[in-house]
Amino acid sequence: MSRRIIPVADVSAVPDVAGPVRTPRGELADTLSRPLRDLRISVTDRCNFRCVYCMPRAVFDKDYSFLPHSALLTFEEIERIATIFVAHGVEKIRLTGGEPLLRKNLEFLIERLARMTTAAGKPLDLTLTTNGSLLARKARSLKDAGLSRVTVSLDALDDALFRRMNDADFAVRDVLDGIEVAQSVGLAPLKVNMVVKRGTNDSEIVPMAQHFRGSGAVLRFIEYMDVGTSNGWNMTEVLPSADVVARISEHFPLLPLEAHSAAETAQRWGYADGGGEIGVISSVTRAFCGDCTRARLSTEGKVYLCLFASSGHDLRALVRNGTSDEGIATAIANIWHARGDRYSQLRGSANAASTTTREERRVEMSYIGG
Ligand code: GTP
Ligand code: 5AD
Ligand code: SF4
Ligand code: SF4
Repeated sequence: MSRRIIPVADVSAVPDVAGPVRTPRGELADTLSRPLRDLRISVTDRCNFRCVYCMPRAVFDKDYSFLPHSALLTFEEIERIATIFVAHGVEKIRLTGGEPLLRKNLEFLIERLARMTTAAGKPLDLTLTTNGSLLARKARSLKDAGLSRVTVSLDALDDALFRRMNDADFAVRDVLDGIEVAQSVGLAPLKVNMVVKRGTNDSEIVPMAQHFRGSGAVLRFIEYMDVGTSNGWNMTEVLPSADVVARISEHFPLLPLEAHSAAETAQRWGYADGGGEIGVISSVTRAFCGDCTRARLSTEGKVYLCLFASSGHDLRALVRNGTSDEGIATAIANIWHARGDRYSQLRGSANAASTTTREERRVEMSYIGG
């Protein structure tokens, strides 16, 4: 029997285009005075991995109904929506998935996005998050299409453990090859994301740090999050970033570094001996909602204002019903002005429980894009 986890059609609303026209001036602010600066675009809900914390095989099995092709935004539709977001102030676009490199001809989309400039006339920061399995083959064409940089997920160097975690029998070597080719074609700075699950791969923290020290790649450790509803998240499996930093410091002393910007997800630490830097992303133990400037566009064209949102705003309906660019710009402005999401800050409090409960079935990360 086919199943769907995300109650898509029934919870999303068609945005309001009524009211005064809101011409984009690159200066939207939400109810907490947060500007709109980042757009994360999911280009497919499919993935060739079945990471246990993201797409557990028991749920995402052969009976799972992924989105049909007709539901996906076309590249033309993505370009149109992205252009309006950029006019509203977006400076960084990240392509995500699922696994974005599974989307056919992704280079065509990258070419279109790479031509855009920010409201201030600068080039966009155009990047992509990938599991790395197809990267060795695609890095050159991605770079040629205009991609600035890339972030690769890798949870372990131990091959048997990595295969268990991706649950699709992909080898560490494939991902390391992808990283090397991406670096050699100049997709830089290259970042490596490691989700840390206590008791599963925390033994890999120091080996990963040792491997990527001095390589030019920035390794980032992500606290395992309670995103979605299918991964069976439990607080006991979260290893606080402070422990990650302490464990690495025992072997390679670290010094705190200044943030590049307030909206950065990671706190930066530098190796005292000049071996480069690492980052820690602490959305469980040190929420960063106060500076969250991120909007997410799902594969089928719904805008989500938070990774933990349970409903989205159906921009595809507007794009496909003949709404003008002006109307779509007004809708986006209205959506952002009303935004008050700060799930990670409220996590665990009565307030969080009353606003977004597991029973409401939050969207899955593979659908909304990490
Ligand atoms: P850079 O621009 O390279 O710093 O990327 P980024 O950290 O904004 O994006 P990336 O996809 O590398 O994010 C890393 C991880 O941080 C994601 O996989 C998520 O686990 C987490 N993350 C990113 N954005 C958010 C967010 O808005 N809220 C929460 N709670 N976690 C986030
Ligand atoms: N907690 C933290 N990070 C996660 N990712 C996927 N699921 C989770 C989770 N439950 C990460 C992936 C990848 C990025 C897209 O999101 O490892 O780096
Ligand atoms: Fe795929 Fe990334 Fe999710 Fe793993 S974390 S299943 S690679 S989308
Ligand atoms: Fe932004 Fe929501 Fe993440 Fe907070 S929990 S940082 S509001 S996406």
